Amino acid sequence: MHPMLNVAVRAARAAGRIITRASHDLEKVRVASKQRNDFVTEVDQAAESAIITTLQQAYPGHAFLAEESGHSTPQGDIPPNEAEHIWIIDPLDGTTNFIHGLPQYAVSIALMQKGVVTQAVVYDPNRDELYTASKGRGAFLNDRRIRVSSAIKLDGALVGTGFPFRRIEDLDHYLPILKAVMEKAAGVRRPGAAALDLAYVAAGRYDAFFEIGLMPWDVAAGSLLVSEAGGLIGDLHGEANHIFTEQVLAGTPKVFSQMVALCAPHAAQIPAVRN
Ligand code: IPD
Ligand code: CA
Ligand code: CA
Repeated sequence: MHPMLNVAVRAARAAGRIITRASHDLEKVRVASKQRNDFVTEVDQAAESAIITTLQQAYPGHAFLAEESGHSTPQGDIPPNEAEHIWIIDPLDGTTNFIHGLPQYAVSIALMQKGVVTQAVVYDPNRDELYTASKGRGAFLNDRRIRVSSAIKLDGALVGTGFPFRRIEDLDHYLPILKAVMEKAAGVRRPGAAALDLAYVAAGRYDAFFEIGLMPWDVAAGSLLVSEAGGLIGDLHGEANHIFTEQVLAGTPKVFSQMVALCAPHAAQIPAVRN
């Protein structure tokens, strides 16, 4: 395993232990609201600081972009996609599930170098499933190599998605896409942890996945898993422009292009990234 991936795995497992311990006594977990329908717990924060401490000890010169603590660069103000080394971290992807005791959440850690994701870890502590990838070396679930499914048609495909829930106005763009997908696919799933959803595309559990409103920490690690597993990932137009644009579409090569044909006309209506 690449040494940088190895440190990231250590960090992800440490965060997983913090999350699992807290899951045994959920009533004690304090929840705060960041914005409408957007929650953070002390567990998100403790997991994030464990990850950053582990990575910083090994790589003191690296930058960070983490959901709860934001962007920090030891070398001054360098945008994330230009940094030499930046760790993009979601310490607990699926916080709403976690708060409700629904066991579908994960830790997501990616290393980006000059705009390219080179190392990725998504760890599901409930199933002890560790998804990893290093650029050019394939994607793995625990020690087993994974590949996207062999699906060639959206007809009969299983598609994962995430519903818009913070910016409810996004529903106007999202629902026509969902309708078009439901008319074709065999089924649509919304488990509630985007990093795991992307890992499931990589592992061949879904044939495609799409969502509007995702942040870099939701997508960075999963995107390398998908491409190293032989899948395609992009925005809803199919462009390789998905980490910082809040739109993501992933799938097997054939299903991806059918999804682009279906999503692109609706995606054209979505305003460019808003804060
Ligand atoms: C959320 C989950 C969810 C997705 C949201 C994300 P969080 O992450 O990935 O599936 O629909 O857009 O924000 O807030 O639980 O880390
Ligand atoms: Ca997330
Ligand atoms: Ca999170």
